[in-house]
Parts: sequence; C-alpha cells; structure tokens
Amino acid sequence: MSSKLILITGVTRGLGRALTKEFIARGHRVIGCGRSQNAIDQLSKTYGAPHRFDAVDVSDDAAVAAWAKAVLAEAGPPDLLLNNAAVINRNAPLWQVPAAEFDRLVDVNIKGVANVIRHFVPAMVARGTGVIVNFSSGWGRGTDPNVAPYCASKWAMEGLTKALAQELPAGMAAIPLSPGIIDTDMLRSCFGGDAGLYPSPEEWANTAVPYLLSLGPEDNGQSLTVGDR
Ligand SMILES: NC(=O)c1ccc[n+]([C@@H]2O[C@H](COP(=O)([O-])OP(=O)(O)OC[C@H]3O[C@@H](n4cnc5c(N)ncnc54)[C@H](OP(=O)(O)O)[C@@H]3O)[C@@H](O)[C@H]2O)c1
Repeated sequence: MSSKLILITGVTRGLGRALTKEFIARGHRVIGCGRSQNAIDQLSKTYGAPHRFDAVDVSDDAAVAAWAKAVLAEAGPPDLLLNNAAVINRNAPLWQVPAAEFDRLVDVNIKGVANVIRHFVPAMVARGTGVIVNFSSGWGRGTDPNVAPYCASKWAMEGLTKALAQELPAGMAAIPLSPGIIDTDMLRSCFGGDAGLYPSPEEWANTAVPYLLSLGPEDNGQSLTVGDR
C-alpha cells in the first residue's frame, strides 16, 4: 500500500498515541495534535520529519485554523482525518455535573470536531478524495448512568457525521466509528480498575490501523465499529 497522510487529533495518549506509532511503523506519514506540550515535544523527538506534531487545543477555533493553514501548506490535504481527541465527564448523575464541566466537554467533543472539519475538509473536498473518521463510542449508540454528557456528545457525533456524509462529494467518506473498549486513561476514569480487563491501546492499534486504512467511499455515512468486518 502506498504511504498515506494521516491526520490525528489527540495523539499524546491513549488511542491516538498508539495509532501514531502503528501508522508510522507501517510507512505512513502522521500529522497530530494534543494539548500537552511535553508529550508533543517527545513525539517530535521520537518521530522527526516528515511527521509533524503540534500543541493545539481542538476547542480553540483560531488555533485549529492556524494549525490547518500551516499543515496544508506543508503537507497538503490528509488522506485520512481522524477526529479522535475527546474528554469524558467524571462519573456522576447528570444533575451533579457542573456547568463548566459540561460546557468543556461539549467544546472539545462536539465543537472541537466541527473546528477541525471546518479548517481541513475544504482542502479535501477541493481535491475530491479523503476519508473523515469521527470517533464515536458504544455510548454513541447506547447509554449508561453517570456518563450522560459524554453519551450526548457521542450521539451527537453519529448525527453530525451522517449529515456531513450527505454533504460530501462522491469519492469521499465521513464515518462515525466506535473503536471498541480499550484500556486508556479515559476508560480508567469511568471503569476504574476493571479497565485492565480490556486490550491495551497498542494491541488495539494492530487491528485498528489496517481497519482504518480499509475505509473508503463505500462506507460513507455508515456507523461502524473497529473489527466489525
Ligand atoms: N478507550 C475506550 O475504550 C473508548 C471507547 C469508546 C470511544 N472512545 C473514543 O476514542 C477516542 C480516544 O479515546 P482514549 O480512550 O484514547 O482517550 P484518552 O486516553 O483520554 O486520550 C484522549 C486524547 O485526546 C487529547 N485531547 C483531549 N482534549 C483535547 C483537546 N481539547 N485538544 C486536543 N487534544 C485533546 C488528549 O491529549 P491532551 O490531554 O494532551 O490534550 C489525549 O491525547 C475518544 O474520542 C473517545 O471518546 C474510547
């Protein structure tokens, strides 16, 4: 397979970090962002050019705009855009979730994805190819107590992505993707020690990377789960 340009938000930990490692190991070029400057510096040291890592908060539309301008000038439009960055609320019934925490989750999980789409997708549309994957969840298709804000944001990912799929030209795809259940910081936040019963991000990325690379226009608008085919 020829080398693809992969853009990933949230590369500093968890699934994004493991995807970065696996895509690069398989000969692809990765452009990524996250908020933690230390982790971004480490990634830049580990993986030099042509890979590129920047400290960008996806909830900051102006910062995403500046990042996209620099990335598109340097590398052109991505072949695969992975909207992976997200946060989860601390386990609590909805009525106990502080307004600031709810706002922050919506800013990152919904508005952050729209910001990245706003600034990267026009160049993909102009070229007429590319796949956009917005990370959903089992909690984008079902619910559980104590994670209502997160569920709301992932159900939003399903709707936002399916509508986007109807807007794209033929030859492109937008896909809401549930990654499965993986032992990351996010899972530890909601499952506690039971998160250890699930695969590590590195194990998951072994399956997820070929799966992501297999996605194409025929998958446009489909709610998919890693490994479901
Ligand atoms: N783990 C699971 O079992 C599971 C299940 C279903 C869905 N998912 C979804 O899979 C994706 C990855 O989850 P994960 O488990 O890997 O989570 P994680 O371990 O908490 O990692 C989240 C990543 O997103 C980054 N991030 C958070 N807020 C950001 C912001 N405002 N701007 C830029 N980057 C930001 C974090 O880095 P910084 O802190 O450095 O910014 C980190 O790199 C998420 O969309 C999640 O909802 C995960």
